[in-house]
Amino acid sequence: MIDLFPVNNADFPEPVIVTGAGGCIGSWVIHLLQRSGVNVIALDLHKDTRRPSLLMSDEELASIVWLDGDIANPQTIKSAVEKHKAGAIIHLAALQVPFCKANPILGAQVNVVGTTNVLEAARENGIKRLAYASSIAAHGVFNPDTVSTLYGAYKFCNEETAKVYMQDWGVPSTCLRPGVVYGVGRDQGMTSKTTAAILAAAMKRAYTVPFNGPVSWLHAGEVASAFIKSVSKPRDEARVFDINGVIATVEESIAKIEAIAPNSKISVEGSPLPFPTDLSDQPLRDYLGDYGSVGLTKGIAHTYEHFCRLIDLGKLEPDAFA
Ligand SMILES: NC(=O)c1ccc[n+]([C@@H]2O[C@H](COP(=O)([O-])OP(=O)(O)OC[C@H]3O[C@@H](n4cnc5c(N)ncnc54)[C@H](O)[C@@H]3O)[C@@H](O)[C@H]2O)c1
Repeated sequence: MIDLFPVNNADFPEPVIVTGAGGCIGSWVIHLLQRSGVNVIALDLHKDTRRPSLLMSDEELASIVWLDGDIANPQTIKSAVEKHKAGAIIHLAALQVPFCKANPILGAQVNVVGTTNVLEAARENGIKRLAYASSIAAHGVFNPDTVSTLYGAYKFCNEETAKVYMQDWGVPSTCLRPGVVYGVGRDQGMTSKTTAAILAAAMKRAYTVPFNGPVSWLHAGEVASAFIKSVSKPRDEARVFDINGVIATVEESIAKIEAIAPNSKISVEGSPLPFPTDLSDQPLRDYLGDYGSVGLTKGIAHTYEHFCRLIDLGKLEPDAFA
């Protein structure tokens, strides 16, 4: 699977800092970078390698420099960039929809102040390779068919802030708005339930996906590869792109799971997610060039097989999904 996402280490003469490296997408980013011999600095609130260890061996993990730090503290990213002489930042650290709703002030500190801290560190250190994660939820600010969330509002704020950093101080950035990410390591957030269904099948447990209808299926490796490609050369603009992957209904995905695991007991209830599913990846592909792609049949099969291997190895607890 990772061969679908080649990384040329000659494109990365300086270290790459990945914030939120212990998260789902972060784990795939550090995995792809490490596998290609790129000097990667992993930054997260606490060193928690639970998700990266689902993708990497202990030896591979040990070769990565880990930094603990709160992205809401301006010193965290500033000193990381300066100490390690980083040439690129992939900024993924954030609190997701339910956590922002439960604690709006903390959500703003992490998601808004945290991103401003990253932009500021880029400005102070002349970083021309910066990519950061917005979300499909940002559409809630301007699209009346999409639900408004604090999370989406914070993400949209970051996009506007990044544009002003380019306008006023020449800080370029590439912003990706992922749709629904799935794959090994996706275990939290309101849209993680499509991955939970694949995990349930691998664990031979019944599971009900709490939403139906069309969903974007964006493989975690594919979006990680797009973030890496975004910082593979210096940029001179602040751009914002949707990244959606494949569109398929939850019902279609269950049929694919059943084709691999005929005895699985996955059902569906509820209503469709209030996010757009018809967004095109073409503008991003035109901008970045090829960053790899995974069809849904292959993506689900690979995720299922990977979960089965992890279960056999005892690396996934029986209560690994909520
Ligand atoms: N997974 C998706 O479907 C999806 C969709 C759209 C956007 N995104 C965005 O992509 C990015 C990565 O998503 P993910 O699924 O990997 O998220 P995740 O929740 O798995 O990981 C987020 C990481 O950020 C870290 N973090 C939280 N607060 C922090 C702080 N104060 N300082 C430093 N680190 C902190 C967490 O410890 C965690 O490891 C996020 O910005 C998210 O909003 C994800």
